[in-house]
Formats: sequence, structure tokens, C-alpha cells
Amino acid sequence: MDTRIWIGLVALTTVAGTFGTGPGDAVSSASVEIADTELGLSKTSVEDVPIPDVFEYSSTDPGSNDRAERSYHTAPPMITHSIQDMVPITQDFNLCRDCHVQPDMLGQPIEKGMPVPAPVSHYVENTKDLYMGRWNCTQCHAPQADVKLLVDTTFTKDQ
Ligand code: HEC
Ligand code: HEC
Repeated sequence: MDTRIWIGLVALTTVAGTFGTGPGDAVSSASVEIADTELGLSKTSVEDVPIPDVFEYSSTDPGSNDRAERSYHTAPPMITHSIQDMVPITQDFNLCRDCHVQPDMLGQPIEKGMPVPAPVSHYVENTKDLYMGRWNCTQCHAPQADVKLLVDTTFTKDQ
């Protein structure tokens, strides 16, 4: 081959290596690669279909627990007891109401073992009727289970 063509080819390769996305670039990005086991919360390969840990909700009966700690001011308290056989709440079936909708108990001292009366906010104003927007208690109040946190929280509540 003609010497000038050789020189031309070498020059072209050098230019491409300098400005193009050649193999050299691939090597440098590989050094900051994130392993696929670090991408998600499950810490397994994206190829795996991990089976979540089995957990159980509280199995203690109503009346045998301490009051729920508030997560923050105005938060709906967690349900302290088992709600087995109490859900799903339907139009005709609401055991939560039977125990908790006790407007006459508002302001009375609540002893351990007594159902905490649903608060003033849950009744139609100036009446003792449960406001129907609060019918589906488990929409806001959730049962508790002892589970491992996937992500820790730094949240601290106001007093
Ligand atoms: C047989 C009566 C009974 C039934 C039915 C019942 N509860 Fe309770 N609930 C209690 C008692 C008693 C407590 C007091 C704490 C304890 O012993 O768990 C309580 C505590 C709670 C608390 C915590 C309140 C606080 O301030 O600490 C919430 C929230 C709650 N129940 C919601 C519900 C919901 C929602 C349902 C229906 C899925 C329900 N309860 C069904 C009796 C009952
Ligand atoms: C739309 C959301 C929502 C629904 C539905 C709801 N609650 Fe609540 N509940 C709250 C919030 C928020 C609080 C805490 C703030 C407050 O007092 O209003 C609360 C507080 C409570 C408390 C604690 C009272 C206290 O003195 O500390 C009880 C008991 C309770 N609810 C029972 C029930 C029951 C039983 C039902 C169903 C009949 C129900 N709630 C439906 C949001 C809800």
C-alpha cells in the first residue's frame, strides 16, 4: 500500500480515538458501575424475583394492649389489637364501630381494657352520629406488624 494512505489511516484513527466514544471511554465508565444488587431495596440481582419475608400482624385481643403511640400530632393511631374477622368492613358489617363509636365516653377517663372512643372529629358536628366519611376505619387506621424497615427514617415528631 502507498505510504501516504498508511499515514492518513493512522491520523484518522488518532482523531477518532481522541473525540469519539471509543473503547477507552467504556473502560472509564465501567469503573463507576453500580452493581445490580445495589439498585433496588431488595439487594438481589435484577434477574431474581425475591420472595418477601413472611410477617404476621398483631394477634392480641382488643382490651389486652397499651394505648397506641402517636406517630405525630393529628396522625391516625395504629390499631393496637388484632383485626382478624373484623375486616373487610362493609355497609352492613362494622365491628370497629360497635366497640369504638361511643360518643358518651368522650372526655371520660379511659382505663386499660376499654375501647378508646372515636374522637370528636369522627362525628357529625353537634350530634352523636358517626360521620359516614369515617365509616371505613381501616382506610386510615392500620394494624401493626413487627417488620424489618427497608429504609430507616430520620423523621422526628413535634410534641
Ligand atoms: C371488641 C371491641 C373492639 C373491636 C371490635 C375493635 N376494637 Fe379497637 N380497641 C379496642 C380496645 C379495648 C382498645 C384499647 C387498646 C387495646 O387493648 O388494644 C382498642 C384500640 C384501638 C386503637 C388504638 C387507639 C389508641 O388511641 O390507642 C385503634 C386505632 C383501634 N382500636 C381501631 C379499631 C378498628 C379500626 C377496628 C375495626 C377493624 C377495631 N378497633 C375493632 C376494642 C375494640
Ligand atoms: C379519614 C381517616 C379516618 C377514618 C376513616 C377513621 N379515622 Fe379514626 N382517627 C383519624 C385521625 C386522623 C385520628 C387522630 C386525630 C383526631 O383525633 O381526629 C383518629 C383517631 C382515632 C382514635 C383515637 C382517639 C383518641 O382519643 O386518641 C380512635 C379510637 C379512632 N380514630 C377510631 C376510629 C374508628 C373506630 C373508625 C371507623 C368507624 C375511624 N377511626 C375512622 C382518622 C380516621
